[in-house]
Amino acid sequence: MAKRVLHDRYFKQAKREGYLARSAYKLIELDDRRHVIRDGDWVLDLGCSPGSWLQVASERVGPDGLVVGIDLKPTSPGLPRSIRTVIGDFTETGANELLPGPNERFDVVLSDMAPNTSGHGDHFRSVRLCETIVDRLDEFLAPGGRILMKVFDGEALADLIKRCKGCFADVSVLKPKASRDVSVETFIIGLGYRPGRDRHRRDDLRRPRGGPPAPVEGWSS
Ligand SMILES: C[S@@+](CC[C@H](N)C(=O)[O-])C[C@H]1O[C@@H](n2cnc3c(N)ncnc32)[C@H](O)[C@@H]1O
Repeated sequence: MAKRVLHDRYFKQAKREGYLARSAYKLIELDDRRHVIRDGDWVLDLGCSPGSWLQVASERVGPDGLVVGIDLKPTSPGLPRSIRTVIGDFTETGANELLPGPNERFDVVLSDMAPNTSGHGDHFRSVRLCETIVDRLDEFLAPGGRILMKVFDGEALADLIKRCKGCFADVSVLKPKASRDVSVETFIIGLGYRPGRDRHRRDDLRRPRGGPPAPVEGWSS
């Protein structure tokens, strides 16, 4: 049973095609369907270890793009040298540690972050992690930018989707074929970020951590 789950079709395909994890195929399918990552984009990957999404993002942005990742754990060896990674907790990391420079924002924020699962409250912890990402989008995402983030399905999902619909022109919720049948994960994809349109953002989060990111012309906060 364990062997069947561990060595499924996507696991074998990842080994064959040189991806660091089977989750590469989740991003590939979702991106093929919604065109989140585009040539030349700057991409921030939250929860990037071992690094298969970094690999996919790097392929898709091409030589003119930029990929930055953060994770509590180090990534596996063998990633392209152009990818920049930070070891740390995203919720505690200042924007200036991830942004490529002052006055800069990413075109895309990806998150495959998941809380440690205990079987109790996993859904709510996963939604809280996503809420933290949305709270901080002004710090990281350019106007018009795109997001793709994992969340565990459950009763608080509808409110999170509603909030995302306030922040993005186009929101969809998709579960890729590479997600295991038993998994409660699903993915929210938002296209066309509209800064300053989030009515749910907490006031105490309006001041960014780790030093203020430089203002962007035309930015409304
Ligand atoms: C499913 S794995 C990501 C797999 C990755 N997308 C890939 O394709 O290689 C989820 C990752 O999220 C990371 N993570 C969870 N909470 C985090 C946080 N607060 N800050 C940074 N990373 C976090 C975990 O350490 C874990 O490596």
